[in-house]
Amino acid sequence: MKYFFKLLKLLLNQRGIKENNEVLSVILNRKSCRKFSKKKVTEDIIEKVLLAGASTPSTVNLQTWSFFPFNDESWYKKFNSHIPFGGKAAIIICADLKRLEVIDPVFKEYPYFFYTLSVMNASLAAMNMAIAIEGMGLKSIMLSHTGRTGLVDYDYLKEKLSLPDLVFPLTTIAFGYPEKAVLFSPPKYDKEVIIHRDGFYQLNEKKVKDWFEDMDFVCNLAGKEKITEKFKNYLKILPRAEEELANAFKKISG
Ligand SMILES: Cc1cc2nc3c(=O)[nH]c(=O)nc-3n(C[C@H](O)[C@H](O)[C@H](O)COP(=O)(O)O)c2cc1C
Repeated sequence: MKYFFKLLKLLLNQRGIKENNEVLSVILNRKSCRKFSKKKVTEDIIEKVLLAGASTPSTVNLQTWSFFPFNDESWYKKFNSHIPFGGKAAIIICADLKRLEVIDPVFKEYPYFFYTLSVMNASLAAMNMAIAIEGMGLKSIMLSHTGRTGLVDYDYLKEKLSLPDLVFPLTTIAFGYPEKAVLFSPPKYDKEVIIHRDGFYQLNEKKVKDWFEDMDFVCNLAGKEKITEKFKNYLKILPRAEEELANAFKKISG
């Protein structure tokens, strides 16, 4: 019986959200896509996605990002593998403090602040691109691990993309046309867990555990590893990734 209710809850949560405002509708109905069709993505679309990234707001308009666009051929040439999930285009997004060195190297005295700032701005650019992709009728998925595409493969991407110090690969947005409609995304937290309306932090542990249980249920259903198993697998690669990032971070202060 519990299984039935969980399934029902899951299915009800997957209903498309009806919203008259087109932008809001795109945002509320976005779902990561893990199977793209063979249909090519035109260079024109890739350019528009890049423009969306470059139009993102940023701290003091510093635009602390760099983008590396690929189609499936150029990706294959560079990485000797296909874009994950059969994506037909991809953009690698980096946090970039290199240009700031030219303008005012004083930022090196405040590495935590400026590193965070660059990551925040570049992440916002990534999201702007995801929304642009979705708005043009394509689908996307952001990657930081699958296919050595981001944060966990700092040294690999640094070498592949000839990244100077002060440029940090964060994520790849892979995109294309979905092979079939994406009907499913994993459950989100109950709003009460993430929105603190009374002006102070309140943790509803029961609801956090409920979400965790729902995620396990979904992973089971999809035949995928549970979050805790995923963490265990991550632990195998994290010591190396952590060291690479720590070394990269140290280079900010020189
Ligand atoms: C920065 C970032 C990195 C991600 N990395 C991966 C990844 O390496 N592999 C993967 O399959 N999904 C990855 N995802 C997708 C998440 O798993 C997905 O966004 C999450 O499960 C929520 O699903 P939804 O996007 O459909 O709402 C990533 C998402 C983000 C934002």
